[in-house]
Amino acid sequence: MSVSPAPGRPAEDWWKSAVVYQVYVRSFADADGDGVGDLAGVRSRLPYLRDLGVDALWLTPFYRSPMVDGGYDVADYRDVDPVFGTLADFDHMITDAHALGLRIIVDIVPNHTSDAHPWFTAALASPPGSAERDRYLFRDGRGPGGDLPPNDWESIFGGPAWTRVPDGQWYLHLFDPAQPDLNWRHPEVRAEFEDVLRFWLDRGVDGFRIDVAHGMIKAEGLPDVGDGVPAGQRQVELLGRARLPYFDQDEVHDIYRAWRPILDSYPGGRMAVAEAWAETPQRLARYIGPDELHQAFNFDFLDATWSADSFRKVIDTALAEATIVGAPTTWVLSNHDKQRHVTRYGDGALGLRRARAAALMMLALPGSVYLYQGEELGLPEVLDLPDELRQDPAFRRTGESRDGCRVPLPWSGDVPPYGFGPAGAAPAWLPAPPTWRARSVTAQTGVPDSTLELYRAALRLRRDHPALPGDPAGAGDPAGAGGPAGAGGPAGAGGPAGAGGVRWRESEPGVLAFSRAAPAGAPELTCVVNFGDEPVTVRDYGTPILTSELLAGDADGTTLPTDTAGWFVRPVTG
Ligand code: GLC
Repeated sequence: MSVSPAPGRPAEDWWKSAVVYQVYVRSFADADGDGVGDLAGVRSRLPYLRDLGVDALWLTPFYRSPMVDGGYDVADYRDVDPVFGTLADFDHMITDAHALGLRIIVDIVPNHTSDAHPWFTAALASPPGSAERDRYLFRDGRGPGGDLPPNDWESIFGGPAWTRVPDGQWYLHLFDPAQPDLNWRHPEVRAEFEDVLRFWLDRGVDGFRIDVAHGMIKAEGLPDVGDGVPAGQRQVELLGRARLPYFDQDEVHDIYRAWRPILDSYPGGRMAVAEAWAETPQRLARYIGPDELHQAFNFDFLDATWSADSFRKVIDTALAEATIVGAPTTWVLSNHDKQRHVTRYGDGALGLRRARAAALMMLALPGSVYLYQGEELGLPEVLDLPDELRQDPAFRRTGESRDGCRVPLPWSGDVPPYGFGPAGAAPAWLPAPPTWRARSVTAQTGVPDSTLELYRAALRLRRDHPALPGDPAGAGDPAGAGGPAGAGGPAGAGGPAGAGGVRWRESEPGVLAFSRAAPAGAPELTCVVNFGDEPVTVRDYGTPILTSELLAGDADGTTLPTDTAGWFVRPVTG
């Protein structure tokens, strides 16, 4: 069964306002009881996701892999790793998802393969200068005997980006040594990935999340980064501030110009979202457009600190960028690489309170939203995992670990792993803390002030309310009607609403308030967030329909406590 479009929107445009739920497959649900999540587990929980109210799932890599980097080290791009199931499990899962109206986005990892990929084992078995080595980036070393790496590039996971092989040559790996970088100037590499795209499109996937989308092409000659890196910093810290010779090279766009016609040749709006980092918003915008990719993650929103000024700035920038590229932006607060936002915002009750407010702010903005599994449960980062259980390869090299945001989800019950696996299952691959008993899906279901019920209510309203959230080309948003596909006016310009139908309202310092335009006759919706230290009285925006904390009201208006957000509706007058 095909998936029907949101009301008022052509099927091809579904992604423009979609809520996409990121499933970190290893940690979502374990159907076979081996302690690791799997595709059958995803399938079994699809009704939960449909009821939560999301539109699509992004599944992190489930391909054959030695799992050095949690599956971002792929040994076979056309098969499912046995730990996650089989291709038949994938087919059953996607059939059920589509029947429930859920779309499926899969991760594609084109910058590097696993060192267990047959291409790499063939490269190691072949001599320097061979055709087999040319699919990767093998080079002779520098210095006497070639004992020094070919250049000064650093791995994102720490240490040099080069590893030496027994015959003396070195190969490039921007990540772990078990993740050798491919040579994207090689026609076979390009042909292979075009075929991999078709393989998954033929199996019905609705889109791709492109891993390290800015990394595939390296500057000709592999020049040194040089000494522009401040003392004590790592090269990767320049990301987003300076151009590195291994990121965001112009020729990478040729790859996406070749991929787009492939996506467009399939019906129903197959899309691609880039994990890309670039020096400026203008350079990031070059990844997006009718002849390249549909979207890129807006990590500035994730990186914003908890203040009105910080969020105002990133929202304005994102809306302006959406105007540049002619497509709505994306909003994301957490993912499998970053500390969970409950913890970033202060942890404990404070962090949770802010996270709930942030969710209402995010879900009221125009564009698409990427939720990370467990944020709907208000899960914090697990900070005290024993070192010996940590699996992130970056941990051994830098001491930093992403395992704390990857702890398996609590579904039900009183004892670990809280329903992650069936009764009698092996312990989960990372242990959930005892406090997660109260955070499980069943513990929160039907509890009116739980974070899960807040997300459910917000997602329901986002779907049903005429002012939310759509994009300027969608129904319920007159601001962009008749304009170029997806583009609104510049923020604050002209009509009643600026980019994406967002109209900033005057508010006191520490408070953000923006209204979403509604079609004629429908009530306008205003989202107000109080980042300040004191409660504020909110007037003029109408009646609260959803708030992140309980509010008190009196004749003067509604009191919005600190670290709280609310959605207010008022009939449009005049
Ligand atoms: C991306 C992924 C991350 C992975 C890396 C290498 O940044 O999100 O999890 O480690 O690419 O593939």
